[in-house]
Amino acid sequence: MHHILSARDFGKNFQWGVAIAAAQNEGAAGEDGKGASIWDAFAKRPGKIRGGGRPTTGCDFYHRYKDDLLLVKALGFTVFRFSLSWARILPDGTGKVNKEGIAFYHKVIDECLKLGLIPYVTLYHWDLPQELQKKGGWANYFINKWFNRFVTVCAEAYGDKVKNWIIINEPFGFTSLGYMIGRHAPGKTGLENFLPAIYHTSLAQAEGGRIIRNLVPYAHIGTAFSFSQVVPHSDKKEDLAAANRVDILMNRLFIEPVIGKGYPIDDSFKFLEKLQLHNKAWKFADRLQFDFDFIGLQYYFPVVIKYNPLVPYVQATEVNAKSRKVPHTAMGWEINADSFYRTIKRIWLYGGVKEIVITENGAAFKDEVKNGIINDTERIDYFRHHLKAVLKAKREGVNIKGYFAWTLMDNFEWSEGYTKRFGLVHVDFKTQLRTIKNSGYWWRDFLNG
Ligand code: NOJ
Repeated sequence: MHHILSARDFGKNFQWGVAIAAAQNEGAAGEDGKGASIWDAFAKRPGKIRGGGRPTTGCDFYHRYKDDLLLVKALGFTVFRFSLSWARILPDGTGKVNKEGIAFYHKVIDECLKLGLIPYVTLYHWDLPQELQKKGGWANYFINKWFNRFVTVCAEAYGDKVKNWIIINEPFGFTSLGYMIGRHAPGKTGLENFLPAIYHTSLAQAEGGRIIRNLVPYAHIGTAFSFSQVVPHSDKKEDLAAANRVDILMNRLFIEPVIGKGYPIDDSFKFLEKLQLHNKAWKFADRLQFDFDFIGLQYYFPVVIKYNPLVPYVQATEVNAKSRKVPHTAMGWEINADSFYRTIKRIWLYGGVKEIVITENGAAFKDEVKNGIINDTERIDYFRHHLKAVLKAKREGVNIKGYFAWTLMDNFEWSEGYTKRFGLVHVDFKTQLRTIKNSGYWWRDFLNG
């Protein structure tokens, strides 16, 4: 008999959400006292963003949040995950609080509560105030002071209304792309930036958790990591070792200190030695740990890795999905739901994680609008298979509390600008017209089924 997947299979209390982020959706980049973020500055640099897009208008969530939240509700979701723009709240990153910034998120939160949507608030989703970047950003030791203040301001403003907090979104994503490879804002490269950024981010994450714990009664506190199953290209010793190094970076570097294991140690990977040496402040090792109520697990794709002596430190390169002729998304990311299942199990088997929330999962495809209809069957398949992977892990005893789709609507996809569409709702960026894709309707039926 053909079993039709239904939301009920996941249990009555399972939380279903959609996620967005401030810099990707809000727009209103200079309005009502908002300071510039590193993405506003980075996008002005020629050639940094595909198609030359800037986060200046995004999908205008700042002005359209009421309608957009109605869409969230109409599609049947019960959770809305969004992030706070640091530079909207503290335009210079430190110093003066911008009342209008504070007021905006009150309005978003109130609207969620009115509609019966549970807000999950991300404190840092990559849009550092540019004023702080001028002083070195995540590579500056003072970032921890600045971040703690920001967290305190937010907890005091919203703690009465918001119980679910995500401290940092994908620490590996923004530290590696922004402070090592330079492909994301602020465009910094090299270990002299990457190593301190890793340390300060880990510390900020745990300290942020402690601040929310102290200031928000009954808070449900998490932080969100990206994970990718790492598959060696062959059984050759060099490929296995290369895959191990990438695995350490992509999957272990940030979660292990949090759950009390410290930074991964592996004698064959010189980079780790440098990391430990850099952290002369190693005495703070115990402060990188925090007993999070949940771990946000974000999964998109697995990677296949082979040895490449030309790449500094990691000595590895990816064999991309296209060249391997396997199904992939418009981002070039392999589509592999089994790898999602394995990833969930692996994180659970660490033992130090109490609860998992899938805080992001989704896919970009070349959506075509035909007669006002977007029949994105590939995205529907993606969700269907990935939800089955979640269900399988859940049935095997993994404590998974919720699943949030990435993302509500097409938005500013960082260095890909507006050229990659992940939304359940299509956005015409010229007119800001929203059109629910068939995947959106699929979700509505799934959640109401
Ligand atoms: C993870 C990031 O958190 C999100 O901002 C991004 O848009 C998605 N991945 C897709 O790349």
